[in-house]
Parts: sequence; structure tokens; C-alpha cells
Amino acid sequence: MIMESKVVFVGAGNMAEAIVSGMVAAEFCEPEKIIMTDVRPERLKDLEAEYGVSVSTDNGVIQNAEIVVLSVKPQVMDAVLREIAPFLREETLVVSIAAGISCAKIEASLKGERRVVRVMPNTPALVGQGAAALAAGAHADEADLEVAEAILQCVGLTVRVEENELDAVTALSGSGPAYVFYLIEAMLAAAEQMGLSPNVSRTLAVQTVEGVARLMRDSGESATVLRERVTSKGGTTEAAIRSLDASGVKAAIVKALHAAKTRSEELSNG
Ligand SMILES: NC(=O)c1ccc[n+]([C@@H]2O[C@H](COP(=O)([O-])OP(=O)(O)OC[C@H]3O[C@@H](n4cnc5c(N)ncnc54)[C@H](OP(=O)(O)O)[C@@H]3O)[C@@H](O)[C@H]2O)c1
Repeated sequence: MIMESKVVFVGAGNMAEAIVSGMVAAEFCEPEKIIMTDVRPERLKDLEAEYGVSVSTDNGVIQNAEIVVLSVKPQVMDAVLREIAPFLREETLVVSIAAGISCAKIEASLKGERRVVRVMPNTPALVGQGAAALAAGAHADEADLEVAEAILQCVGLTVRVEENELDAVTALSGSGPAYVFYLIEAMLAAAEQMGLSPNVSRTLAVQTVEGVARLMRDSGESATVLRERVTSKGGTTEAAIRSLDASGVKAAIVKALHAAKTRSEELSNG
């Protein structure tokens, strides 16, 4: 147990649940000190029963919070910021996980010198394996970043970046899980064509991706070195890599990340 503060999550969706479940498991604070708000009472009832957290359909409960985590969809953020502004205490730290909503926008909507930390999490947070990047707003200090890190570290690892790097982070790790699923989809389609059963293919593909990630982390080697090590001259892997190169797959992936970054910039600029 490392925190005595009351933490309010505004918006009790998938990402908020993932983070809260990690906080409860890590004994970040007493569960009842976590308050989740949402527009869906049924959803809140389930979360209360599952995690022992406090719940409310009234976003005004943020007036009791030391930390507010904004976890609604970006589309409703404007309305939510307007709604909570009158209730927010001056000293409350605001952590936002909403994609594309700048610290400056949040600071301006909430008025005053608000301490804001912006976070880009990703979906492996659902299983405690998230990768989150954090950026401080104009008035947030080291202690604020540490608090936000402590929350996000309940569901994975964190890195610090400058806010202007968050569009690139979105393209890399925010959307990143989808690229890996896309690769697995293609591998499984090929395995099916080759006659392997779906169960066997899924088991082998999932373990391969997990093993690759662990090998890269544990060895500290670059992806290039590790790839070259499994690519013997004249072998099967070389045949596959040659085919990928001939189809321009690496260039296509690079282009895809640039497209994601551009889209993130467009969304941020409204
Ligand atoms: N999921 C991801 O992979 C991911 C990754 C990075 C960042 N994020 C960010 O995380 C945030 C949450 O994403 P999510 O996937 O968890 O979304 P989500 O499941 O849709 O959760 C948002 C929740 O907020 C509720 N809500 C709507 N208006 C509200 C209001 N005025 N007050 C309180 N609650 C309200 C929604 O209810 P209704 O459904 O009834 O509207 C929903 O339960 C987003 O801003 C997203 O950009 C998500």
C-alpha cells in the first residue's frame, strides 16, 4: 500500500477497469479509496462487486479527489471537462489517458495552473503487460509524474517522453498491438493453408511472439542481430525474409506507422 490519496476515475470503461484491477491487485491503496464514475449504473455495480471500489454516476465526486484520472473517450472529453471544472480542487492532480487531448487543452478547460500528466497506455494493460508513455503538462512536477507512473506501473511499464513525442508513441506502442495481431493473423492464415489445426497454430504463434519479446528483452540485442542469428544462409528463414523484402513489407510497415502518427496529429488538432 503506497498511497493514502483518493483516486477518482472519470469514465469506467475498458482501460479504466484494466488500471483499477492492477491497482487493487498491487494494493496501491484501499479499494474503497478508488472511486469510479460512469454514465452506466449497471457497469458501476459490476465494478463495485468485482473490485470493492467505490462508484458514482455523479462526476461531482471529484471534489473529494487528490488524483483524477480522465478515462472517457476523447469525443466526450470537452463536455466532461466543462462538467468537472467547477468541482475540481486546485491541488488535485489530473492524469489523462485520452488519446489526442493535449495538456494545454485540459489546462485551459479547467482554468488556473492545473497540474496535468498525459498518458498513452496500450491494451496489454488488460493483462498487466502494458507499455505507457507519460508526459508532463506545463504545471506538473516530478512528484506528479511519479504518482502517475506509480498508477500506470500497476499494469505494466512506463517511460517518460515530451508531450510532442506522444503522436509517435501512439503510432508505436498505442497502435502497436494491432500490428502484431495483424502479423499473427497472416501467420495463422498461412498455417491453415498448410493444413495445421487452428489450436496447434494458435499455441505455436502466441508462444513464438511471447518468446521473441522475452528473448529481445533478456538478451539486450537488437532486433536485427537476433533476426540474423536465425537466418542461416540458404535456409528456410532466409527464403521467407527474401520474400518479405521482395514484397516491400518493411517499407510498408514504416509507412503504416507514419500514417498512424499523422492521424494522431490530425485528431489532436481537432
Ligand atoms: N483502449 C485502448 O487501447 C486505449 C489505448 C490508449 C488510450 N486509450 C484512451 O483511454 C480512454 C478510455 O478508453 P476505453 O477504451 O476505456 O473507452 P470506453 O470503454 O468507451 O470507456 C469510456 C467510459 O466512459 C463512459 N462515459 C461516457 N461519458 C461519460 C461521462 N460524461 N462521465 C463519465 N463516464 C462517461 C462511457 O460510457 P458509454 O459507453 O455509455 O459512453 C464508458 O463506459 C480513451 O480516451 C482512449 O483514448 C485507450
